[in-house]
Amino acid sequence: MKIIEIEGGRSLEGSIRIGGAKNAIVALIPAAILTDEEVTICNVPEITDTNALCDILDLLHVNYNRSTESIVINPKEIINTEISEQYSKKLRASYYFMGALLGKYKKAEMYFPGGCSIGARPIDLHLKGFEALGATVRSEKNKYIVEAEELRGANIYLDIASVGATINIMLAAVKAKGKTIIDNAAKEPEIVNIATFLNNMGAKITGAGTSTIKIEGVDYLHKCFHEVIPDRIEAGTYIIIGALCGKNLKIDNVIPEHVDSLISKLEEIGVELEVGQDYVRVLESTNELKPTTIKTAVYPGFPTDLQQPFTVLLTKASGKSKVMETIWENRFMHIPYLKALGADIEEKNQTATIIGPTELTGCEVVATDLRAGAAMVAAALIATGKTTITSAEHILRGYEQIVEKLSSVGAKIEIKEI
Ligand code: UD1
Repeated sequence: MKIIEIEGGRSLEGSIRIGGAKNAIVALIPAAILTDEEVTICNVPEITDTNALCDILDLLHVNYNRSTESIVINPKEIINTEISEQYSKKLRASYYFMGALLGKYKKAEMYFPGGCSIGARPIDLHLKGFEALGATVRSEKNKYIVEAEELRGANIYLDIASVGATINIMLAAVKAKGKTIIDNAAKEPEIVNIATFLNNMGAKITGAGTSTIKIEGVDYLHKCFHEVIPDRIEAGTYIIIGALCGKNLKIDNVIPEHVDSLISKLEEIGVELEVGQDYVRVLESTNELKPTTIKTAVYPGFPTDLQQPFTVLLTKASGKSKVMETIWENRFMHIPYLKALGADIEEKNQTATIIGPTELTGCEVVATDLRAGAAMVAAALIATGKTTITSAEHILRGYEQIVEKLSSVGAKIEIKEI
């Protein structure tokens, strides 16, 4: 097991550069197999989720070459084989191979995907979308076999604006016969990034980033060059850390518009920011932080993935704050550990009530999932004394070089294998 140890109470000064978006690369790698030609993707984050997808490329005999921040994928020799549980359970996004293999071969066999335990995380909307395109879905225990004689464009309405279902249906539909319309599609920036990638390969997708996406099926996809957008959740996490303990901390390589909801909330509670073209600087300030209420929502609402780190900041606000989680049923697993560190928080009916300000004192805590882990890092940086975060593997799934990035701005942080 990996542990992260942090000696808290230091001010962080300098700049942190944000890497490519995890939630984009995890779909771009599976999407790349839709062509038989070589694609190059740059600004690839060095996270373990990227490694797990490359393991699936190996399983499918897809050639690839990784170098610093880029990957060249050549699927010429691909074979369509079953993706066993050993591969599917490493991350949720393994399910994008279902849409991509279905789109390419009209057949995909894979086990139920893994990922953070933040809720039931069904995939019914993905499967209903595949069925609407003409596929049949069979399940044998934990395995899904999705196949079609022919994929035909269809009108698909998503009951929930699901990120995963929107992308998976796009992947299956790009080479289908005729036109597909996805209504109530998710609008996250990562979806636009993936649609742009597919369009660079010759797909005909319009409307990505709005709630109606139209896909005109094409027969052939070709090589392309593509860049992953900056990770808005990594950026948001470091901006929150800057608000907690930064001394003019600059977060570089950000698309500020992608973190608008966070910026508004930070300004509302009294955090001073300088927002540039491609950076956000958290200014040093003596302002007392005001309490607030946040309610997670689909993009452009307040992202659920930043709810946990933001809760840490609210322990520093004077008065009563509320955090309402509407996307995942099980996203308060960081709360008991924040309480162990000294926070005053109660949780009931998917709402956490935080009374601040409180002083935090280091102790042993657990990174129960990726973003809960980020919250633990944020809390440890302001806690007095040493905090040990166990199960730190979760954090490395989505934060590239977190130890190096935080050390470079003055944090006392170490990662160890025990
Ligand atoms: C993606 C992000 C994750 C983020 C989430 C919400 C990736 C790899 N992960 O996850 O970081 O927290 O969006 O912004 O991009 N649902 C169903 N049936 C389905 C699919 C989803 O009921 O078939 C429900 C889920 O249980 C959840 C909600 O819809 O309550 C949103 O899920 P979804 O947008 O699909 O999240 P993911 O794509 O898994």
